[in-house]
Amino acid sequence: MPRRLVLDCDTGTDDAIAIMLACRRPELDLIGVTAVWGNHAVEHTADNSLRTLDLIGRTDIPVLAGCSGPIEPGGEEQEGSPEPDTLPIPPSTRSIESAHAVEWLIETARAATEQFTLVPTGSLSNIASAVRADPAFVEAVEEIVVMGGVVERGGALPDVETNVAYDPDAAQIVLDAGFEQFVLVTLDATYRATVTSEQCELLRNAGGVAAELAAEFIEQRIARYRLLPAMGGRAAAPVHDALTIAYLVDPTLVTLRTGRVRVETELGATRGRTDIELDPAVPTAADVQIAVDADAARFFELLLESLGGPE
Ligand code: BDR
Ligand code: CA
Repeated sequence: MPRRLVLDCDTGTDDAIAIMLACRRPELDLIGVTAVWGNHAVEHTADNSLRTLDLIGRTDIPVLAGCSGPIEPGGEEQEGSPEPDTLPIPPSTRSIESAHAVEWLIETARAATEQFTLVPTGSLSNIASAVRADPAFVEAVEEIVVMGGVVERGGALPDVETNVAYDPDAAQIVLDAGFEQFVLVTLDATYRATVTSEQCELLRNAGGVAAELAAEFIEQRIARYRLLPAMGGRAAAPVHDALTIAYLVDPTLVTLRTGRVRVETELGATRGRTDIELDPAVPTAADVQIAVDADAARFFELLLESLGGPE
């Protein structure tokens, strides 16, 4: 039986690749995409999600729009994405669902006769709102896999990760909510699973609309990321959000360690940082699994084998 999956995205290029990967894997049954603000306004992230699904023929998957800002007022505004707001994909012919994403998440959880897997790859505002409105929401979730946070600071990686930094209060609520299985896929892991220009060529040559679009998107990402110190001059880029789906398909693709996470929610320069203690001496129920590393070659193989070929 495929695992029922809900993706909660702020869809830009890497969320779109995560959506396509989830749709193309027989182990996964994507039952809905909830859109959240983050890298772009929620109107755009919902529209981009619809466009992506429609392009690969998955007009059966509903898209719902959720929170348009952080759950608490205040905090400094974060810079949005350097990507254009609208993905270069033809407009969808359908509309987003009329329900609010948070209502839909709660209703889906209440109606569930079996648990589902939840993968947030944008700000955590929708998920924190669902948990706040209905603490029993967590019981319907078999596993939550969040793309967010960073362990190692002071090196080449950014000090803050945007999915957490857009809404730090929401991130802390989600961490504290009591989800049974919690995996945090950090920048430490996603920057290890970079895709190169040569690999984009392989992906493009694999043919099919999903592979071609993913190749185009990753090439656009490489043009930006190759200028960052973290890439060390290599023509390569992380595809952050897609690593969450790769983990679901093959958990051995990432290295997990037990960790205790505190999000810095205080106003000021460090707001949004994740303080992560790995392998705490005395484990507690609040500890989560932290993806700290990933196998780049196997991640790319999975992208290639999953996205290539006809629908
Ligand atoms: C995260 O922020 C967004 O840019 C990406 O889509 C990813 O979810 C990486 O920090
Ligand atoms: Ca994202």
